[in-house]
Amino acid sequence: MILKNIGIIGAGTMGAGIAQVAATAGCTVKIYDTKTDALETSKADLERIMDRLVEKGRIDSEEKERIQNNIKYVNTLKELKDSDMTIEAIVENLDVKKNVFSTLEKFVSDDCILASNTSSLSIASIASSLEKPERCIGIHFFNPAPLMKLVEVIPAIQTSIEVLNTSVKTIKDWGKTVAVAKDTPGFIVNRVARPFYGEALRIYEEGIADFATIDWTMKNFGGFKMGPFELMDFIGNDVNYTVTETVFKAFYYDPRYKPSFTQKRFAEAGYLGRKSGRGYYNYSKNAVKAEP
Ligand code: NAI
Repeated sequence: MILKNIGIIGAGTMGAGIAQVAATAGCTVKIYDTKTDALETSKADLERIMDRLVEKGRIDSEEKERIQNNIKYVNTLKELKDSDMTIEAIVENLDVKKNVFSTLEKFVSDDCILASNTSSLSIASIASSLEKPERCIGIHFFNPAPLMKLVEVIPAIQTSIEVLNTSVKTIKDWGKTVAVAKDTPGFIVNRVARPFYGEALRIYEEGIADFATIDWTMKNFGGFKMGPFELMDFIGNDVNYTVTETVFKAFYYDPRYKPSFTQKRFAEAGYLGRKSGRGYYNYSKNAVKAEP
């Protein structure tokens, strides 16, 4: 089964990126967000990204137009009714996600696949909000979605084999590499990544080194492309903190995954990282990035 019409719920960092991936692959995409300004921002961001790709010679202006014309920005969930597959990328909150899934199911056809891009929540639990839970699956892209090759596909215990196979095929057709993972907290990558962030935050809290020194060390001697603080700023401290908290609770408060007060305070202060202009580093125009 070829999935042509894709609905995306949430026009933030991930939703916008996933929309670009699907539109580039030739799908017709409708993207919905509760906030009109999020839709406007994602549209403007796409224009900028496309212009840069044209400048670099990666695509021509016809391709740019084709990709942009493949994406429609919509103001109601109901407008996703003709989707073959929807991918939800909204706030990492189980009740909010369940509510969106059960509402969406009322509008879409019986064979529409309902996927979640959740980083850490239970797909079985999201699926339980549906009349047809066998249509639900986790499809977890990484940030930035257009550049990151890997996508985790996570069937819940309710997911049908047809939905799993169609989802895997679709994501491969979009040029991605698929890892099928079991429905456990954080799946593969986000579970492995928790100690990377958590230990870095503890090293900072114990006064052993500052953010920049930890990042510099991990990049120059650890072989990582980004240090833990740069990466948390890139992901968003709100999203990253919530994922850690969810994984910690889901593993019955295993201290290995204990969240950090430093990150909690940063998220509470609105120091979310790149998307808010300030996180562990300052991203305002005149800011000078510290190096040890
Ligand atoms: P974000 O904060 O950038 O965007 C979320 C968007 O969802 C916002 O525009 C918001 O207005 C919208 N929204 C919230 N509630 C809504 C609702 N009920 N209906 C429609 N739109 C709604 O968040 P981000 O970073 O894009 O994350 C989205 C999801 O993707 C989360 O589940 C997160 O865990 C997951 N994720 C995030 C990654 C990251 O690096 N940021 C990587 C992989 C997965």
